[in-house]
Amino acid sequence: MAFSCNFGIASSMQAKARALLFGVNLCLQRGFDAFDVELDSFVIVQILNMTSQCPWSIYKEVQQLVGLVSHFPRIRHCYRQANQVADILANEDCRQGHVEIYLAASALPQLARGAYHLDRIGVASIRVDKALIIHSSNNSDLGWSRKASEEAEAVASLSCSGHGRAYLDGFVLDGGKPICECNSCYTGLDCSQLVPDCVVDADSGNPIFLEPFWRQNAATSAIMMAGWHRMGYEFEDGSLISKELEKKIRKLHATVGNAVTEGRYIVFGAGSTQLLNAAVHALAADASSSPAKVVASAPYYPVYKSQTDLFESAKFKFEGHTSSWMNSSSMNFIEFVTSPNNPDGQLKKAFLQGLNAKQIYDLAYYWPHYTAIPSPMDKDLMIFTLSKLTGHAGSRFGWAIIKNKAVYERMVNYMDLNTYGVSRETQLRTLKLLSVVLEGNGKQMFSFGYEAMRFRWEKLSKILSASKRFSIQQLTPQQCTFSNEVRAPTPAFAWIKCEKEEDKDCHATLSAAKIIGRAGHVFGVDSTYVRLSLVNGKDDFELLQHRLEMLVFQERLVNLMAEFTPGGHVTRKSNFTVALNATYVSDENFGYYTNQEMASEDSRNSHVQETLQTLY
Ligand SMILES: Cc1ncc(COP(=O)(O)O)c(C=O)c1O
Repeated sequence: MAFSCNFGIASSMQAKARALLFGVNLCLQRGFDAFDVELDSFVIVQILNMTSQCPWSIYKEVQQLVGLVSHFPRIRHCYRQANQVADILANEDCRQGHVEIYLAASALPQLARGAYHLDRIGVASIRVDKALIIHSSNNSDLGWSRKASEEAEAVASLSCSGHGRAYLDGFVLDGGKPICECNSCYTGLDCSQLVPDCVVDADSGNPIFLEPFWRQNAATSAIMMAGWHRMGYEFEDGSLISKELEKKIRKLHATVGNAVTEGRYIVFGAGSTQLLNAAVHALAADASSSPAKVVASAPYYPVYKSQTDLFESAKFKFEGHTSSWMNSSSMNFIEFVTSPNNPDGQLKKAFLQGLNAKQIYDLAYYWPHYTAIPSPMDKDLMIFTLSKLTGHAGSRFGWAIIKNKAVYERMVNYMDLNTYGVSRETQLRTLKLLSVVLEGNGKQMFSFGYEAMRFRWEKLSKILSASKRFSIQQLTPQQCTFSNEVRAPTPAFAWIKCEKEEDKDCHATLSAAKIIGRAGHVFGVDSTYVRLSLVNGKDDFELLQHRLEMLVFQERLVNLMAEFTPGGHVTRKSNFTVALNATYVSDENFGYYTNQEMASEDSRNSHVQETLQTLY
């Protein structure tokens, strides 16, 4: 007996857990009440054998399997290659929700039938081991790079249960074995244990959401560097920037259509952070007697202020919000324009106009995964960063595109005196990464990035649409010249507003629910706002999603209770305490409420009713 079934959108672990549950139930329905289980997911085998912690994403399936385990006391792992029939059936093209059950070998699809017959006559399946591939290269012509690639592959092969990663420069055990660095709510040597009651980090803007893309493209994006790689200060032509990389950046902008680079100068920086100040320095040089006023429209990226304040320059000074200077007759403004804006994702224009106002366009997020690209930006000074484009924040690479030669020369001078250019290793890595981005005219990476962000926005919007307590920014869809379609923006951050008086310290409200965001006052606005990062890794996002669901569930429960309270005698506060207890009950059913496909509105509502009945 065999089957194939489409389990909808699910991670491979969820799909395997659901397939196992389906298979076990099928056996029981057909009268088989004792059987062995072999599975090609090592992690699920460990979970069912109680040697590993169960992640919440498959909690519900695992609970049901545990209830049935007496029927299959032996559960073992086997390699996918030894599970060919199941593997082929898993790849069968079946329609959503459609189940195919095969009761005879002759009914199997052709490929699966072949694998089944080979299995029956005992033909061995071949599994090629990565270690073997490397070993066989011992005999090839690879010279100095062999050892380095062996080291890199050995570290990369550590799976860390999918909740962490090991790095070449990470900690090692005594025997030199690399250690997993776990995602924030996971722990253990192999990162398989979920930390109970963990606080979600939605503060940091680390763009780890793109990591799966780079894992899929590990071969094409890897670089190998000999010990003698570019040891000198300058490139052959005496400059500090790679001409190949400069060409690649121009090609990238032409391909994406997000910035004009023809006839413009390009300067590289250690992340855009360094270029922001280089730009202020270069533009302020024209200032007359009084320091140039550096301004931005609130809410604004806080580094503009903190960095400008830090330098305490006689040439420039941070002077707050643009709106305070609207009708001013002052001279010499340098305005930071961030588009799309951090934190609220809006496409922005300069506020202050005229000869005395210069602009620095910070276009860190002007890429198709975050926004529609209505047209190429054509501004005097534009700054971009690798960190938000490819996710490689740690490489510290940014670039500025500059129209005016004198401004360009002042920025080059700043870079010369500040760091004498950007690390040559970083430039090499960036060159390689951008080559991958440009493959297929940029469609692969940007589609991946956009789909990942769109998925997150859909989840978030659905959760918050049920709330009157929290709202998010409204963004208008626009025609995107890169994708040739009208797209709703999918910005890096959710800009949450707490709507109720009792939640006016929104950061504190969310912290109490174990969500750490960045408070509104950091961006120059009031504390009813909080920024939540949506670009973190999958684990962080899923936990954030869960915590927000709990908050909204709690809110709905309070409202329901208010409706059910006879004579309205129960105050909101006492309702709230009861609601918190009730929510704790549902928190124990972690997977029940976070697995969206499984937790339908009806089942939630009936759970609310049950909870209410037990409470009264
Ligand atoms: C608007 C904006 N500009 C600049 C930066 C700095 O980026 P990096 O220094 O990584 O290039 C950030 C980082 O979060 C940002 O949000």
